[in-house]
Amino acid sequence: GRKNMPIDFSKYIASYPDFPEPGILFRDISPMLENGEVYRAATDKIVDFAKERNVQMIVGPEARGFIVGCPVAYKLGVGFSPARKKNKLPGETIEESYGLEYGKSSLYLRTNAVKPGQRVLVTDDLLATGGTIDATIRLVEKLGGIVVGTAFLIELSDLKGREKVKNYDFFTLLKY
Ligand code: PRP
Ligand code: ADE
Repeated sequence: GRKNMPIDFSKYIASYPDFPEPGILFRDISPMLENGEVYRAATDKIVDFAKERNVQMIVGPEARGFIVGCPVAYKLGVGFSPARKKNKLPGETIEESYGLEYGKSSLYLRTNAVKPGQRVLVTDDLLATGGTIDATIRLVEKLGGIVVGTAFLIELSDLKGREKVKNYDFFTLLKY
């Protein structure tokens, strides 16, 4: 085994030019997820970030925000509430719309997902234009939650998403 050798996480990101449309360089986290040791080590980095901020609840956007947020919630023993796309969540929800690197959409969150004053970590796999994370943050704040951090596996710095989350504590495993 590797025995305490630091992991080069960048070796576990695959890059696909012109996916899902021309001009987009798609950064795929699948190789990282498919390696149990690497997925756990990446998750543990976010767990450490969350512990320092006394996170009480995690919210992540569909679909890849779930992959990042759920194992962190499990490890901390806190709840996870999914911010989902249209017509996915039953019951009472709130909505925020946003633009992203390719396209435009809306996210919904259950009205009971977050209690006023609760310390919330927002997670996603990747920060591009920041539209998705900004909408997720707005959903949490509409319910009175306190966003104590945003955490990603990848930041695409050229797309300036950081400017959208500049007022929040930020963690990313990798930067391109
Ligand atoms: C991707 C990615 C982030 C978002 C980043 O999700 O997982 O959520 O785009 O882009 P942004 O910073 O410009 O908003 P996508 O909307 O493709 O959905 P998926 O996770 O369901 O594939
Ligand atoms: N979501 C938005 N932009 C992306 C990219 N370039 N790679 C992977 N996911 C993305």
